[in-house]
Amino acid sequence: MTLITTVHSYAGGVAKSATARDLSAALALLGQRVLLIDADHQADLSVSLGADMDEQYERAEDSFAQTIGPAVLGTGPLPTPLSVFGVDLIPSSITLYNLEKELKADISMVVGLRYALDEVRASGTYDHVIIDTNPTLGDMATLALLAADRVLLPMPPNRKGLRAGSFIRSRVEKGHYQRLNPGLQVLPPVVTQAPNTVLARQYLAEIEELFGGTLGVIKHRPGLYPAAMERSIPVPHLNRGEGRAEVMAVAGRFLEVTGTAPVAGVPRGA
Ligand SMILES: Nc1ncnc2c1ncn2[C@@H]1O[C@H](COP(=O)(O)OP(=O)(O)O)[C@@H](O)[C@H]1O
Ligand SMILES: [Mg+2]
Repeated sequence: MTLITTVHSYAGGVAKSATARDLSAALALLGQRVLLIDADHQADLSVSLGADMDEQYERAEDSFAQTIGPAVLGTGPLPTPLSVFGVDLIPSSITLYNLEKELKADISMVVGLRYALDEVRASGTYDHVIIDTNPTLGDMATLALLAADRVLLPMPPNRKGLRAGSFIRSRVEKGHYQRLNPGLQVLPPVVTQAPNTVLARQYLAEIEELFGGTLGVIKHRPGLYPAAMERSIPVPHLNRGEGRAEVMAVAGRFLEVTGTAPVAGVPRGA
């Protein structure tokens, strides 16, 4: 069975891309088969995994062909993923911005990713598909939310984080997403970029109460995370200490909460 999880928030800079990258790398280290999809035209996730399509290809058509774009438009299949740190990656490119315009012109294409991933699901190739989104409430977010089984909210323990996360949850649960995609569920959030302050601890307690728990807390690590981005290495591969441990703990909890932890002795797909 393949579980599709969209990492989402309308807020920028809350560690969506870092969470998508590190959770995927950690799941792969735990033996899971992971397809990671970058659906943000800013391509931070792809670049932070060393896959800069806009640098690699001169022609816009060529970099667009490496993204989900053609499959969403129905003009081609999903590309062959790149292999990075044990994860299969469908990268993004700045050309994915054109997809937003196409979605505006023909809203029926908003189910394009869902249809493309139905085939991935049917192939049984992956245990998990993780989708990174751009900070929007627009059509690209809808594209990624209609394709998903679960929404993962990265939430810094501060006013901005809590406000954005709570809003997305109510939008998914009370808005149209669950009507269009009845299986869609909001996971307990991952608390990100958490400083060691009294205020952050108060917000953490509030998040735990409002969401009935979290998938774990990632501390603010101003040395480690910029280095992961600069060196294009996911945190669980770059760090051997606490930074890695907290990401691995989130991945373990994610498997537990989603009911996708492998059962010892049972072969895959049984
Ligand atoms: N735990 C953390 N500690 C310190 N910096 C972090 C942490 N998580 C993410 N960052 C940094 O915060 C910035 C925003 O993270 P990013 O994942 O790009 O956010 P988003 O995708 O939500 O815009 C990046 O520069 C990233 O390196
Ligand atoms: Mg991002």
